[in-house]
Amino acid sequence: MTGLSLSLSGRRAAVSGSSRGVGFAIAKALADAGADVAINYLANDKRAQTALDALKEINPSSISVKADVSTPEGAERLVSEAEEAFGGVDILINNAHGRIIRNMFQRSGWEEHQTHIDSILRPAFYLSRRVIDGMKSGNWGRIVNIGNNMLIQPVKGYSALTSAMGGLLGFTRNLAAEAGPWGITVNMVSPGFVLTEEAPNTNESVRQAICDSTPLGRLAMPEDAAGVVLFFCSEAGRFVTGANLSVDGGRIMG
Ligand SMILES: NC(=O)c1ccc[n+]([C@@H]2O[C@H](COP(=O)([O-])OP(=O)(O)OC[C@H]3O[C@@H](n4cnc5c(N)ncnc54)[C@H](OP(=O)(O)O)[C@@H]3O)[C@@H](O)[C@H]2O)c1
Repeated sequence: MTGLSLSLSGRRAAVSGSSRGVGFAIAKALADAGADVAINYLANDKRAQTALDALKEINPSSISVKADVSTPEGAERLVSEAEEAFGGVDILINNAHGRIIRNMFQRSGWEEHQTHIDSILRPAFYLSRRVIDGMKSGNWGRIVNIGNNMLIQPVKGYSALTSAMGGLLGFTRNLAAEAGPWGITVNMVSPGFVLTEEAPNTNESVRQAICDSTPLGRLAMPEDAAGVVLFFCSEAGRFVTGANLSVDGGRIMG
């Protein structure tokens, strides 16, 4: 026996922004692997209830927390409700983000950049800050930050997003360096375009162009990102920290 497994039995997870899309797929993957999972959302109660019902079919202990995790109070609510339900949080997935705005640099103002930095970095900061002491006391922890492959291969008009994602990568690496001695890994998973409920809003020719330039020949499903998150959270991924892994079918290599 190597002890290497994808099982998360006995682990307790909080996934920010997880009533739909990539976050929900991650929540399901962690629950499937045996973890207790707290999902989180901002506003859409109906969508969150549907997600919770589906998750409870996998693990009846699952909970849902309505909280704006870009605020210290919201981050506190998500973690304290998960701790109350499960007795602690060993796994944190920083997936929530605000609305992404596309605008060419010369037309954009600092406000747009600040908004992206706030909506992407604040949740990761507040939530990580809140869980890290508990992880240290258990000498085990996993933090996975969800990024975007546009950080590596820029797309025109996304300066605000990639500025924030660059910050998230620096945050990931620094926290990985500081938390490593307590058995805590911190990694980033960066999907390309993902087929979520929002995908139909993207122009068909853009989607086709992404497919055509992807070696694996299709767009990403939310589960593709979730599988890599599961690996980082499991014992199989225990010796990887400070990494950023693109999940885009090989579209961007390096
Ligand atoms: N979709 C893509 O093509 C793509 C590509 C690359 C990277 N990503 C990354 O993957 C992650 C998820 O993207 P997605 O497209 O799956 O998201 P999504 O479908 O837009 O879902 C967003 C989720 O986050 C919640 N949420 C938003 N702001 C929140 C806040 N401040 N506090 C708590 N919850 C909040 C939403 O709740 P409500 O529904 O209640 O508002 C919803 O559950 C993001 O980090 C994104 O940057 C996505």
